[in-house]
Amino acid sequence: MKVLDKAQGDGWAAYNADTVEFTAGMPSNSIDFSVYSPPFSSLYIYSESERDMGNVSSHDEFFESYRPLIRDKLRVTRPGRLTAIHVKDLVYYSNSSAKGDRGLYHFTGDCIRHHVDLGWTFHRLITVERCPVKEMQKTKADRLLYKHFREDAARTGGGMPEYIAVFRKWADGMTDTDPVLHPPAEFPLDVWQEWANPVWRGLPETDVLNVGAKSDEERHLCPMPLNLTRRLVLQYTNPNETVYSPFLGIGSEGYVSIRHGRRFIGTELKPEYFRRAVHNLKEAEGNRLVGDLLAGATA
Ligand SMILES: C[S@@+](CC[C@H](N)C(=O)[O-])C[C@H]1O[C@@H](n2cnc3c(N)ncnc32)[C@H](O)[C@@H]1O
Repeated sequence: MKVLDKAQGDGWAAYNADTVEFTAGMPSNSIDFSVYSPPFSSLYIYSESERDMGNVSSHDEFFESYRPLIRDKLRVTRPGRLTAIHVKDLVYYSNSSAKGDRGLYHFTGDCIRHHVDLGWTFHRLITVERCPVKEMQKTKADRLLYKHFREDAARTGGGMPEYIAVFRKWADGMTDTDPVLHPPAEFPLDVWQEWANPVWRGLPETDVLNVGAKSDEERHLCPMPLNLTRRLVLQYTNPNETVYSPFLGIGSEGYVSIRHGRRFIGTELKPEYFRRAVHNLKEAEGNRLVGDLLAGATA
């Protein structure tokens, strides 16, 4: 499969392509930071394409296709710099379990294990607080029901947080790597203290780009929240540096990067999402933030 479609603007480019093939062709040490949500293994199927990484029948099959990307992402990242992935653990039920049990699959742990196995250094894990009441209302998950809490609390679990796992490309000696600089006038101590918290609280999951999507095809199943993306892009890149999202979706990571004066590259397999991403990236280009770069990033 080649690049099916391509769009570019001032400081950004988006490709309708298979990310594994595309990333394999990218130049080494050309990316300053990557940030994205991978498909959560087999949780959602985004398209009928057999290249859709969500279109798999097992977690092993998912990692078989994800591993070459993890390896190439390391090659294309500049020494000393980072990749941040937005993930969560997955609930499974008896109908999909050989043992007939119900429980949790530690997808986050497997993502960390595969990154480390392929040469990344595990750098940081941020827990993103999520509300169990909203989760119960949305999913009706057995493990969150008050009825079970009263009748047999051993059946109950708890709410599912999201995580941001951050990895670093370690370079020998780390002496000639370019720093990411944050002048205190722009990034005061209290901002750093809040961002350094291992648990990020009070960042609404509804802060997403789906607003404005006109059809189900365009509305993304799980866009990455803009508030999480903003903190990561601002903390881990200098202005004008290049951010990469191998799973562009409708363009959330690009939208944030471009608005905040970063360069951006993204790849997406599904044509409908790709087209919506291009629309969103053009909007970001015409809507760059000037002055207070922290706008919206401290919430
Ligand atoms: C979790 S979503 C990313 C959402 C995105 N962060 C956003 O905010 O819109 C994962 C995306 O990966 C895409 N995808 C799956 N397999 C792919 C592949 N082989 N190459 C490129 N994109 C792929 C899916 O179509 C889906 O849009």
